Amino acid sequence: SIVFVLNGPNLNALGKREPGIYGGQTLADIEALCRAEGEKLGLAIDFRQSNHEGDLVDWIHEAGDVAAGVAINAGAYTHTSIALHDAIRAVKTPVVELHLSNVHAREDFRHKSMIAPAVKGVICGFGAQSYVLALHALSSITK
Ligand code: DQA
Repeated sequence: SIVFVLNGPNLNALGKREPGIYGGQTLADIEALCRAEGEKLGLAIDFRQSNHEGDLVDWIHEAGDVAAGVAINAGAYTHTSIALHDAIRAVKTPVVELHLSNVHAREDFRHKSMIAPAVKGVICGFGAQSYVLALHALSSITK
């Protein structure tokens, strides 16, 4: 089955962006990690990144038609986007929210997720491994 792994704003800068918080791995490294794990789990990974909120909305709608699940790191849109909340609510495909950092151990403005009430569950704080855990979570609920 197909799983979308969606990445929001600034995640294209991983590796050079605040490595003390987000780690030294690039988004390409994380994509490779997801592909390797996807093979083990029998999931075909469609991995995407955009800095634009509307792209993420479109991709969630698309996933609703073609994907068995979605893992999303919505970046800062996590904390602001009612549009993403509504898009997730609009599809039957299960969505898992993930973050590299433990957002609850950081600034207050990162403690609130606008999308959390619309997703199946949330994984945060495990660095790049959060992506692997999100794929396992999807695997366990899609098969
Ligand atoms: C993030 C956490 C968000 O608060 C932040 O805006 C990001 C990355 C994470 O993966 O830890 O861009 O989603």
